[in-house]
Amino acid sequence: MAVDAPRPRLPVVVLISGGGSNLQALIDGCQAGELAIDIRLVVSNRADAYGLTRAASAGITTRVLSHKDFGSRVEYDQALATLLGGFAPGLVILAGFMRILTPAFVARFRGRMLNIHPSLLPKYPGLHTHQRALAAGDSEHGATVHFVTEALDGGPPVLQARVPVLPGDDAGRLAARVLAQEHRLYPLAVRWFAAGRLRLDGTGRALLDGRALDAPVDLTRTAGD
Ligand code: GRF
Repeated sequence: MAVDAPRPRLPVVVLISGGGSNLQALIDGCQAGELAIDIRLVVSNRADAYGLTRAASAGITTRVLSHKDFGSRVEYDQALATLLGGFAPGLVILAGFMRILTPAFVARFRGRMLNIHPSLLPKYPGLHTHQRALAAGDSEHGATVHFVTEALDGGPPVLQARVPVLPGDDAGRLAARVLAQEHRLYPLAVRWFAAGRLRLDGTGRALLDGRALDAPVDLTRTAGD
């Protein structure tokens, strides 16, 4: 019986601005043989991002492209697109990259760019999501992986996980609880994409195994998980 040739690993680029714990979850997934991706490059807009150290420790090429060296968002994104283009990514992974991207950049990588956001989108796009969930008195909060489109944190969602908001929570405690879920969500979404199971269709819908996701897949842990 003929055996299918293994699918080549998907070339990816990861963009970060900070600690890089989501990047680490992806690196760990690769090292565990669970993710068929080749992280060719990690880019940070901040030279002091700890995620750069994580990448270098894993032998991944890193670049710093500081927004302070550019006169405008358009010029920065043009340079970023040129840098990324040289690494031919099949997927661009935004992992705590704290920049708003221009429409031209988003269009260039349309359908092959994912983001993770620390809220139950469409709730709380933008910054300070944990504080906002606490201020609103929400009983639950969470994280979402979504395709990136021109709308800030507004592209079609793929995966979500909810966490409870507990008595005595502050933003830091809540953020840590959410982050632990992010580390489950992102490798899975990337795995689906790398396996060809997840894609964005021409009308802007996220498809999983060929079926439109009317709602994100819910990866919330239930008792007994
Ligand atoms: C995460 O909460 C992510 O959702 C948000 O920024 C944070 C990045 O954390 N976009 P890390 O750098 O991956 O640790």
